[in-house]
Amino acid sequence: MKKDTECVHSGSYRDSVTRGVNTPIFTSSAYDYLDRDDCPYPRYFNTPNQDAVVRKICALEGAEDGVVFSSGMAAMSTAVLAFAGSGDHVVMMDELYGGTHAFTTDEFQRLGIGYTFAPTDAESVCGAAAERTKVIVIESPTNPLLSVIDIRKVAAFAREREITTIIDNTFASPVNQNPLEFGIDIVVHSGTKYLGGHSDICCGVAVTSRERAGRIRALARHLGGSLNAITCYLLERSLKTLALRVGRQSDNALRIAEFLKEQKLVRRVYYPGLPDFPGHEIAKSQMKAYGGMLSFELDERQLDASRFVRRLRLISPAVSLGGVETTICAPAVTSHAKVSMVERKRIGVTDSLFRLSAGIEDAGDLINDLEQALRRAHDDDPQRKNTTDRRAGNAARSTLLESC
Ligand SMILES: Cc1ncc(COP(=O)(O)O)c(C=O)c1O
Repeated sequence: MKKDTECVHSGSYRDSVTRGVNTPIFTSSAYDYLDRDDCPYPRYFNTPNQDAVVRKICALEGAEDGVVFSSGMAAMSTAVLAFAGSGDHVVMMDELYGGTHAFTTDEFQRLGIGYTFAPTDAESVCGAAAERTKVIVIESPTNPLLSVIDIRKVAAFAREREITTIIDNTFASPVNQNPLEFGIDIVVHSGTKYLGGHSDICCGVAVTSRERAGRIRALARHLGGSLNAITCYLLERSLKTLALRVGRQSDNALRIAEFLKEQKLVRRVYYPGLPDFPGHEIAKSQMKAYGGMLSFELDERQLDASRFVRRLRLISPAVSLGGVETTICAPAVTSHAKVSMVERKRIGVTDSLFRLSAGIEDAGDLINDLEQALRRAHDDDPQRKNTTDRRAGNAARSTLLESC
């Protein structure tokens, strides 16, 4: 079946009693255990609503089995710890989502796990692997700079050495990228983003082979980050429109990226769908479309970043991403607020960088909003006017001096 059909039909639980078309919400946390081997229990990750939603996501990612969690971080941390323990080494990309980065730096030493952060390219990531390396964690495109890594190269390298590979596929979503097809072992999503898609639930998922899912589930039963029936149902319901939503979001992001690229007040646009973006060719070979996320840097000499964001009328300044509404945030004061200014500058997260999550609104309306906010932030800036006046004054003086 094609993605759009899988979104609607896969995994749904047919209720033979009422014959309704939707999976019922099974709220029980206590089930009759007599004459059955696998008695459902929420923290055992085997209730009907958990099962239905996992089956839908597995169908979308081409996985055998998976585990649905109460957050994306629960999915990522459990997947990593299921395959790396004391004495082992893990390779991580240095541009990983900030939460995964912090999990590594805050917890691994105490757990006796060694780690290396490598730059976002396949050669560097593979080159960072050591004899003790048990897991490689990558993300593509990355949050917030949309860097792209060659997934096939990393997967092939790791397969040869029996290293388990994990990818955070949140930004691409299963509609635009299916890393298991390229040989990656485990795909993790923050379901809080595109899978949920309406900015109203928190969840995560790890999908993989049956054997690996068993290992992840065994650890998850100890750590306990299970997802309740109602949120499972909301997630399943949201997934029915995933292909439609992500298709529109990807189209909108491309239109917005092309618009921003032409703006004199914008210094740089980060979007894998732009032909001159450094990761474009790799993205083209592994993504179906380029996703709903993009970042851009304003020219701070010409307009003030906070003035710009306050001038937006339709696009909401908000953290998180992947919802039906377009949102924008400045990583320097949100996801990277704890990172030093020097380090932020080194990795490209400047004070003028914005990350935009394209929603499903009309692209023209979104572009008009950005256009008016850029224009007003530029025109209404009294400080800039002073600067311009000063500059104009200096120019006049230097003309004067030159003419002297
Ligand atoms: C790329 C990415 N991965 C993982 C996460 C963590 O997800 P959650 O907040 O659901 O734990 C986030 C959250 O922002 C994210 O952006």
